[in-house]
Amino acid sequence: MSNINLLREPVEEKINDLLSQMTKEEKIGQTNQLHAFGEPEKEAVRQGQVGSILNATSAFAGIGASPSASAEICNAIQRVAFAESRLKIPLLFGRDVIHGYRTVFPIPLGQAASWNPELVELAAAVAASEASADGIKWTFAPMVDIARDPRWGRVAEGSGEDPYLASTMSAAAVRGFQGTDMSAAHKIVACAKHYVGYGGAEGGRDYESAEISMRTLRDIYLPSFRAAVDAGVGTLMAAFHDINGVPMSAHRQLLTDVLRLEWGFKGFVVSDWASIEELVNHGVARHRADAAALALFAGVDMDMVSGTYIENLGSMLEQGHLSPEILDEAVRRILRIKFLAGLFEHPYTDPRRAATAMLTKENRHAACLLAQQSIVLLKNEVSILPLENHFRRIAILGPHAHSRGELFGTWSPDGRPEETISIAEAVKEAAPQGVELIFAESSDEAIRRIKEVDLAVLVLGEHPIRSGENSNVSDLSLPPGQRQFLEALVAQGIPVVLIVLAGRPLAIPEEIRLSKAVLYAWHPGTEGGRALADILFGYANPSGKLPVTMPRATGQVPIYYNHKNSGRPIGWQDFAFRYVDLPHGPLLPFGYGLSYTTFQYNNLAVSAIASSGPYDISAEVTNTGTRSGSEVVQLYLRDLVASVTRPVKELKGFQRVALKPGETKRVTFTLKPSDLTFTGMNDLPLLEPGEFHFWVGPNSTEGLQGRFELEF
Ligand code: GLC
Repeated sequence: MSNINLLREPVEEKINDLLSQMTKEEKIGQTNQLHAFGEPEKEAVRQGQVGSILNATSAFAGIGASPSASAEICNAIQRVAFAESRLKIPLLFGRDVIHGYRTVFPIPLGQAASWNPELVELAAAVAASEASADGIKWTFAPMVDIARDPRWGRVAEGSGEDPYLASTMSAAAVRGFQGTDMSAAHKIVACAKHYVGYGGAEGGRDYESAEISMRTLRDIYLPSFRAAVDAGVGTLMAAFHDINGVPMSAHRQLLTDVLRLEWGFKGFVVSDWASIEELVNHGVARHRADAAALALFAGVDMDMVSGTYIENLGSMLEQGHLSPEILDEAVRRILRIKFLAGLFEHPYTDPRRAATAMLTKENRHAACLLAQQSIVLLKNEVSILPLENHFRRIAILGPHAHSRGELFGTWSPDGRPEETISIAEAVKEAAPQGVELIFAESSDEAIRRIKEVDLAVLVLGEHPIRSGENSNVSDLSLPPGQRQFLEALVAQGIPVVLIVLAGRPLAIPEEIRLSKAVLYAWHPGTEGGRALADILFGYANPSGKLPVTMPRATGQVPIYYNHKNSGRPIGWQDFAFRYVDLPHGPLLPFGYGLSYTTFQYNNLAVSAIASSGPYDISAEVTNTGTRSGSEVVQLYLRDLVASVTRPVKELKGFQRVALKPGETKRVTFTLKPSDLTFTGMNDLPLLEPGEFHFWVGPNSTEGLQGRFELEF
């Protein structure tokens, strides 16, 4: 569904008709979002001064209320708008349903590690089904910000460093949340955020300025938003930060010229939390009234909770600082989404749904499957994994072995710890007959008893508090003391299987070196414990691939695979390193991930329908091991010579392929000329003839290499 489909004749007529009846105050009311709801707010709703309510704390009903309470509270608020106000314009209830609702899925960075857009779409559909049962009709997701600096806490919420992978996941999430008809009771309006370049904050410090050229914006940061718009996303959210000196909430070039005029976006843009009034802090507005005029003119249609619009737009219009047409267009966009969301026909939620919508067997199964496929096997020395029943006495240790709520990760306000099980509990459930499990309450006890066991499974990693908004770190090492715990176990001569829970790629070279096997599980969600147990004992074969580069050290970031060659590339003459105190290159590359089986790539082929493309590129992939497994086959491209510098590699395609032992499949990618375009000197898309190299392989550093000459 493209954004242009958001324009439907009957809806446009209804919008025009309604708009013609609205007073200026009622129009401004639609641009106003509240995040609390008491008697004063009820009166504001009755007066038509509220367009949306952000359910920012836990569900309206709070934890422990009856299953239908949240829907009933939303209905009660909706009744004030829909039955008691003059024009009966329904409210849009929004909430951060980022990676699941009551069934919590892996954090989006983990979901991206599955390289499985179908499962990501399913996860969003499950989240929509559960959240809508509680009265939520709009989510502030998917977060599609590209992140190249993992010190930034919000790297956890996105799909990593690559525009192609992030665009694929962005479109999948929009399809899952909205479906083909966002008015369906179990669908919700999506919101691609935070537009744009938020992940480029200096130093990985949230909210800080970003200096990003228009070319890098267009080739790296904008594509995942474009993918959401082309998938028909109903809304976008403007980011907090300033980009190249212009705060995003006042950035008319990006919010109107690019988003509306170039891309044809027909939905509406909501500010981030109070980001409009924060234009005063940015120093581009003298006061809130200035900020209101700047933001509305730029293209921010709805004010998230700051009250800047409701308090100032009236006077700014009266004083001629804003034209009425700007306000009308903002209100038109908001009404368009409300009509398409079916709110005028179905403003209320059936409160009976909630009793059976949450945490169904199917929802849990989807969460477990996606968690399994998000887990990345980073090391497996002498195939120590899967454990199966090779070890009789296994210790399950570490600060997160018994964690429950911590498995959810950041932005999971509706997950309930009592509705999940820990890794230790899951391992106990899954352990084969005859395997004895030992649990130690502390690292001291673990060291004392470690001689009793054949192997230790050690669960280390980050608490979710180090992830998410304004949870940036200056050091990408594991939290203090954790590596020492591992070293003490290894010093006892016990083989260790390391499980890492994290909201970002951590710099853990020593931990990987010391461990016999390493599973990187991100924050895996409600079924994360079971997914890890399935992988530990071989009931599932890991297939995850890194959606971000893993650095050797904090000082190495930003580090990403699609970097430029520079005039002195590594290996040219005697340039062999970039730091005198660190080996060159990442700890582990983008796209990397192992399996319990092995795969071989053979017989690369390329065929051109015409010298100007498209090009069919293919290779055979064989499962050369003894277990069935899935491989994420990746296609990378390099444009050798162009009118601007180009990345040394760019992901242009990927396919998950399941193979039985000994089975071979030919995997084919079709490269169209549009896949070869880039942003040229004049900031316009450009396709140039010349030589291209390509690779088909298991990650961004390996694979079969070929070439073709693009001519026209
Ligand atoms: C927050 C976040 C944004 C979220 C919004 C509503 O500050 O930046 O991602 O959707 O406010 O909670």
